Amino acid sequence: MTETASPTSAATSSAVPTFRHFIAGEWCDSPSGRTFQSHNPADTRDVVGRFQQGTAADVAMAVKAAETAGPMWRRTPAPKRGEILYAFAQLMGEHKERLARAMTREMGKVIAEARGDVQEGIDIAYLMAGEGRRMFGDTVPSELPDKWAMSIRQPIGVAGIITPWNFPMAIPCWKMMPALVTGNTVVLKPSSDTPHCATLLVELMAQAGFPAGVVNLVTGAGGDVGNAIVDSPDVSVISFTGSSATGKHIAAKAGAKLKRLSLELGGKNGVVVLADADLDLATDGILWSAFGTTGQRCTAASRVIVDRAVLEPLLERLETRARALTLGDGLVATTDVGPLINAGAADKVASYIDIGRGEGELIVGGERATDGDLAHGHFFQPTIFAGVGAMDRIGQEEIFGPVLSVIPVDGYGEAMLALNQTRYGLSSSIFTRDVNVAFRAMRDFETGIVYINAGTTGAETHLPFGGWKETGNGHREAGHVAIDTYTEWKSIYVDFSGRLQRAQIDNQPT
Ligand code: UN1
Repeated sequence: MTETASPTSAATSSAVPTFRHFIAGEWCDSPSGRTFQSHNPADTRDVVGRFQQGTAADVAMAVKAAETAGPMWRRTPAPKRGEILYAFAQLMGEHKERLARAMTREMGKVIAEARGDVQEGIDIAYLMAGEGRRMFGDTVPSELPDKWAMSIRQPIGVAGIITPWNFPMAIPCWKMMPALVTGNTVVLKPSSDTPHCATLLVELMAQAGFPAGVVNLVTGAGGDVGNAIVDSPDVSVISFTGSSATGKHIAAKAGAKLKRLSLELGGKNGVVVLADADLDLATDGILWSAFGTTGQRCTAASRVIVDRAVLEPLLERLETRARALTLGDGLVATTDVGPLINAGAADKVASYIDIGRGEGELIVGGERATDGDLAHGHFFQPTIFAGVGAMDRIGQEEIFGPVLSVIPVDGYGEAMLALNQTRYGLSSSIFTRDVNVAFRAMRDFETGIVYINAGTTGAETHLPFGGWKETGNGHREAGHVAIDTYTEWKSIYVDFSGRLQRAQIDNQPT
């Protein structure tokens, strides 16, 4: 896309294009007149674009547009709404490579993973397109004669969707697709680190045929745009993925207004390796889930809880393999691990390395990577600490970077206790060849997702996604249950007896 080929962006004198909000079916500038830049984290000299610095006034316009479009969209038959989602999924498929490359440029993940991110968006769009022809309620017998009873789902209203940068296409789709197919209209606020990814998605949504006002995009800072969405009396449901701290802040505000809220927050996901495990397979699973996306997944493995009987051979494998990982630009075919998202993330990882040095034994990594071209990006070496205690800070706190803590234990019982000793509960895994122990883990692990003989990442979109404890507030994304967040139930009783029938009274023996 050239900068003048689409109304998305305004032509500017420099080579850096300026992109716009999308409100009421129009690409528009913020009345603030201010913009911010998005950079390539692998080389910060590469500016992806300028984006509108949204304000509360911009959010008010977007919410108004979404509200105005609401009655029309609600009355559009759900199968028809589903067809538009289907068209969007097809368009995403056609543009997959372009979207993936833009994603790698804007947030750094290696290109194969960026394709996977786009694919997750496509998958949920197809799944939710089908929901347009299901969206089941119950039809049940009434306790009284000549009376029917049924329940239907109805949309809530305007959905405020606040999304992170680590899955900058998949997560907006996970939220918007169920919201839209059930008849809500949307105001999307993407992370300030990935506004271009969101702009590309919304462009395709407009092309797919979502009517004006059904999807609105406002870019800008969380403190301005995000807060204004949460505070708006006309936004009835909010879905947020991000840190537990921000989630609690949103929950307090939303709670005061009794708004529907779905939160997808932090993780401290553990991999258990028992004495009978296939250690090569475990090593593959651990490295992929610890250092894939540079450790910046909610589902990333950041703890390995290993039986002392196999501690040494596992550490040896992990160290050798982690040392051999190649850091670099995610668009380069030989790159295994891309950059961190920004300077703040690199500082945070560095601060946890200092903490870790006082808690465990650093066996690999531990430094910013600045060789050659890496100096222009936010690169950090894949890092492993051995001999970490389950309650140590690096074994407890979410670092959101390529840092893995190895915690030695004795046997399944200790491993299970250590795994559950965290305030988070998103994903977990166990490597064992003992089927009985595998089933115990499925029963005992206090997480929303459990993997047997695989790492902690790789959730598929047709199963519920979400976590226990402080990872969330009980809602789930993905799977058919995702529509629970975006619908109200209405129970309907039809009495065709022609007389007054009193429930719980007239069907009782006198
Ligand atoms: C996230 O990190 O917020 O299971 C989402 C996975 C991906 C989704 C991760 N399918 O790792």
